[in-house]
Amino acid sequence: MANSTRTLRLGGPMSLIGRVAVVTGAARGLGRAIALRLAQDGASVAAWDLNFDGAEATAATIREAGGKSVACCGDSSKADQIAQALAQTHQALGPVTILVNNAALSPFVKFEDLTEPAWDELMTVNMKGPFLCCKAIIPDMLAAGWGRIINISSSAAQAGSGLHAHYAASKGGVIGLTKGLAIEYAARGITVNNVPPGFVDTEGLRESPVDIDVYAPMTPMKRPGRPENIAAAVAYLASDEADYVTGHTLSVNGGRYLN
Ligand SMILES: NC(=O)c1ccc[n+]([C@@H]2O[C@H](COP(=O)([O-])OP(=O)(O)OC[C@H]3O[C@@H](n4cnc5c(N)ncnc54)[C@H](O)[C@@H]3O)[C@@H](O)[C@H]2O)c1
Repeated sequence: MANSTRTLRLGGPMSLIGRVAVVTGAARGLGRAIALRLAQDGASVAAWDLNFDGAEATAATIREAGGKSVACCGDSSKADQIAQALAQTHQALGPVTILVNNAALSPFVKFEDLTEPAWDELMTVNMKGPFLCCKAIIPDMLAAGWGRIINISSSAAQAGSGLHAHYAASKGGVIGLTKGLAIEYAARGITVNNVPPGFVDTEGLRESPVDIDVYAPMTPMKRPGRPENIAAAVAYLASDEADYVTGHTLSVNGGRYLN
């Protein structure tokens, strides 16, 4: 086996300079942390969200730090709104080669109270959204011969989660989508991976009926994760260093589920 002839560089960050990333649901929580981390690593970032003020706040934080960023308001599960956000992203930043499908709904409801419209709404946002965003953005990646898709799934799909059957099913679907696309695009320079978080301290989780201060201490690490823990995993999967990793589930969950 040949020895590596690469020059050793100490202290360099994983460089995403020259890359353009789209992060859905980037107004707050994990999406915001992921957007900031990708920008820190050099990417230009389009922050997509239904909440324009929040997305703009994320984009402004990046611009104020000297990075390039644009906020796009829209529903990441509606093809026409995705097309509009993508056109705005192209104009401001250029073709997209990193897609982070992060936006999702996470309502808690007893299965006997779960209605067909509620099931359909959740599947539309959590599963059809990533499907449509992939459909829209993969052509940019194919043209570049390089792409990274990172889907945010959930430990609920791995370990189960009470009052969350539709959510767990949707996130299981996201893991299946990840594996299918990974195989289909592996030879064309695009990697597709997913990150299932455990209990991570976000506005979304704090607003839910799950008391994170009760549940997180039941995990092996006995504490919740930070949004930056998820962002670091996404940054790795988006990097050149991860170019032989695809179809992978990179659990970041304090030991809640061991795979
Ligand atoms: N926080 C956790 O502990 C945890 C655990 C497992 C999985 N996750 C997953 O991580 C991701 C982020 O979670 P979070 O806790 O940061 O959520 P959050 O509710 O705090 O933020 C979600 C963001 O997505 C946006 N959004 C929702 N639907 C949208 C749509 N249709 N189009 C565009 N934007 C939309 C919201 O406006 C919001 O800004 C989700 O996929 C969630 O399922 C989170």
